[in-house]
Amino acid sequence: MTDAPEKTFTLTNDQTGESVKLPIVEGTYGPHCIDIRTLHKATGHFTLDPSFTATGSCKSRITYIDGDEGILLHRGYNIKELAAESSYLETCYLLLYGDLPKEQELKDFEDIITQHTMVHEQIKAVYQGFRRDAHPMAIMCGVVGTMAAFYHDSLDIWDPEQRRISAHRLIAKIPTLAAMAMKYSKGQPYVYPKNDLSFAANFLHMCFSVPAEEYIPTPALVRAMDRILILHADHEQNASTSTVRLAGSSQANPMACIASGITSLWGPSHGGANQAVLEMLDEIGHKDNIPEFLERAKDKSDPFKLMGFGHRVYKNFDPRAAVMKESCDEVLEELGINDPQLELAMELERIALNDPYFIDRKLFPNVDFYSGIILKAMGFPVEMFTVLFAVSRTAGWISQWKEMMEEPTLKIGRPRQLYTGPAERPYVPMSKRK
Ligand code: CMC
Repeated sequence: MTDAPEKTFTLTNDQTGESVKLPIVEGTYGPHCIDIRTLHKATGHFTLDPSFTATGSCKSRITYIDGDEGILLHRGYNIKELAAESSYLETCYLLLYGDLPKEQELKDFEDIITQHTMVHEQIKAVYQGFRRDAHPMAIMCGVVGTMAAFYHDSLDIWDPEQRRISAHRLIAKIPTLAAMAMKYSKGQPYVYPKNDLSFAANFLHMCFSVPAEEYIPTPALVRAMDRILILHADHEQNASTSTVRLAGSSQANPMACIASGITSLWGPSHGGANQAVLEMLDEIGHKDNIPEFLERAKDKSDPFKLMGFGHRVYKNFDPRAAVMKESCDEVLEELGINDPQLELAMELERIALNDPYFIDRKLFPNVDFYSGIILKAMGFPVEMFTVLFAVSRTAGWISQWKEMMEEPTLKIGRPRQLYTGPAERPYVPMSKRK
């Protein structure tokens, strides 16, 4: 039997006629990639792709997105099925270990996560350093990095067992740290985790219980919280995940890597969009004002964008947004809330989806468009929305970090650049500067 010939892509320099054959690599799905690793050696050229619009940064077996069809798969399982059938912790296991757990495996995993939810008592002191009005994402950037100062026994990145423990610690403790950030901003005492509650119920408990009164959410709210966590758990090589991988490539410890992911998530083009959507709906205020805001969104001289709309990869409906909208309806019904902001959001969506600007650019609502409305209905302050995204995405970040660390060789990530600054010039003494 002969091996199939290697598929190649020939790149020719039109000026010199010099050409180079580059291997084509194929994955399970998606566009094939041209492996350009030998390009510089062979031609002296780099490639230029600011914002990575056409560059694969790694091979990964975790998540696949078909942006044209609006499909999202985790380890081959469709997000719609996971949202309907799975739980957040089962999804975490799937992302981390590659397969759905068997019954005992899931039980053991749930037990381990539950047993790691408490944080070191001294971490409380770290919160005291922040102003009460600090954005909780600012607190999260700090306290998650601080975890590296408390859990020395799981920071050896070359030890698979320590990597596993760190992954479990991060998934288990970030909800506790997030709830503490919320309590700190409210001036309420921290609420300790409760081991007899599910992951989502415990998170709600830590956020909303007070010593004087325990918060007991309905099963429908717990399910909705769990589903929000599932929907945000991973999304392949987005900005924050790429940040985590790049930080990890320098052999930084996992707590530092996840802290770097949190900083990247914070921006309104990424996870910060869920807060920005609600602020935008507030600003629009009334259905009658929608046309004015749509015109602003189309005007390139105006920085205003329709928050919760558009995506680098999805050029069709974001499958997470569809599930989120369903959850939104369920939660509002459960809580008996008739939210005028939901009506405003639906009208905005309807008008935008019929507008040629949005149709031509394939701009659809993304996951953040409806999540803020649900979270607000549940009682979360808007500043907490992106923190909730970070709680959930920790599963994806740490799974992607673990996958990278399990590669036989770890090479530091180091993009190149095209230098466009001044050519070398002599230093000018102060007296001669014009
Ligand atoms: N409102 C108005 N115009 C938009 C929007 C928007 N929300 N999004 C994209 N466009 C326009 C953009 O101006 C460009 O127009 P033109 O071709 O005339 O120059 C065209 O659509 C293509 O957009 P792009 O800027 O090339 O797209 P991108 O891949 O660089 O940006 C995005 C993707 C998500 C950053 C952007 O769509 C955006 O800023 N959306 C609003 C913020 C948001 O909702 N972010 C959450 C993303 S989903 C959650 C997550 O995974 O983090």
